Amino acid sequence: MDIDVLIKGTGRYAPDRVFTNEDFEKVLDTSDEWITTRTGIKSRHFVSPGETCSLLGERAAQRILENAGIRAEEVELIIVPTVTPERVFPATASIIQGRIGASKAACFDLNAACCGFIYALATAYNYLRSGMYHNALVIGSEIMTSMANYTDRNTCVLFGDAAAGLYLEAVPATSDRRGIRNFVLGSDGTLIDILYQYAGGSAAPATLDTVLNEQHYIYMEGQEVFKHAVRRMDQTVRDVIAKDGVDPSEVDWFLGHQANQRIIQSTQRRLGVPEEKVYINIQRYGNTTSASIPLCVDELNEEGKLKPGDKIVLFSFGAGLTWASCYLIWGT
Ligand code: ACO
Repeated sequence: MDIDVLIKGTGRYAPDRVFTNEDFEKVLDTSDEWITTRTGIKSRHFVSPGETCSLLGERAAQRILENAGIRAEEVELIIVPTVTPERVFPATASIIQGRIGASKAACFDLNAACCGFIYALATAYNYLRSGMYHNALVIGSEIMTSMANYTDRNTCVLFGDAAAGLYLEAVPATSDRRGIRNFVLGSDGTLIDILYQYAGGSAAPATLDTVLNEQHYIYMEGQEVFKHAVRRMDQTVRDVIAKDGVDPSEVDWFLGHQANQRIIQSTQRRLGVPEEKVYINIQRYGNTTSASIPLCVDELNEEGKLKPGDKIVLFSFGAGLTWASCYLIWGT
């Protein structure tokens, strides 16, 4: 039997604490003007003590399930893309499973940096298409404040904490081609050295030296990453819609990873599409890595802006380097 995979629920959770550019002005040599013009960010959410990656994920999961109208015990698969897991192991997906009581679900985490969400969506899609599972929760959950260096103005102003995700369900395929249609996933591992967290993995486990040498923080060559991002983003969008014979002018929504407003706007211009079709919420969240794309989907869904039949492209770019895109037709 041919199977379609539909998005049947969306949800998000961002911690209450909001840190504005003006707050940064008080503790760093920076300005609201610099951050706004270079990145588009005005504020971001930060966790408070005691708020963990699984707590954010749990709250997002509860909203997704409520929105989908299903019970946690019915969930068969939970995938959590994250670069800031609660612990190195076990998987944050397992911790969330325990918190929400999804006792039937298989659980694992996935790391493809800022492309994690689309990679995880592709993974869940293929589990559902194969018939192995009938539904899945994919929840990006990130505490980027846990790896940002708050004395490095080049990076710390960019990131925020949040969780968001989607509930997917397998249904018998119909002729109107609903749901997730195609993916493009890519990576160029020769460029690992322009964006990384060096220590904390098996090559450099945490020691006094790794801490004193500040090797647990995000290292990023911003301009290099920017150049590659601009080149890759529009190409990956074109590639994924071409698989379905769709032209950029036919797409209703372009939902891109929110790393820098200038990267998203440059992609919009390179695609030659109107700016109203490109959703931007970076001003309120900053870069939330794996949570960034589902935050966009959930906000638009909540506002009732996604109509059945809308053609949507999700696209992302991040460390690895990685790039990823997904073409889908909205319709529950
Ligand atoms: N406030 C004030 N000045 C600053 C700040 C700040 N917060 N940060 C940097 N500057 C200064 C720099 O020191 C530099 O000063 P100098 O000329 O005296 O040396 C000047 O501003 C220009 O710095 P650039 O790095 O050239 O600024 P740029 O316009 O490139 O913007 C940015 C930097 C925002 C980081 C941009 O390069 C960018 O967005 N890069 C891509 C980020 C991205 O996409 N990451 C991928 C995802 S992250 C992930 O995968 C985990």
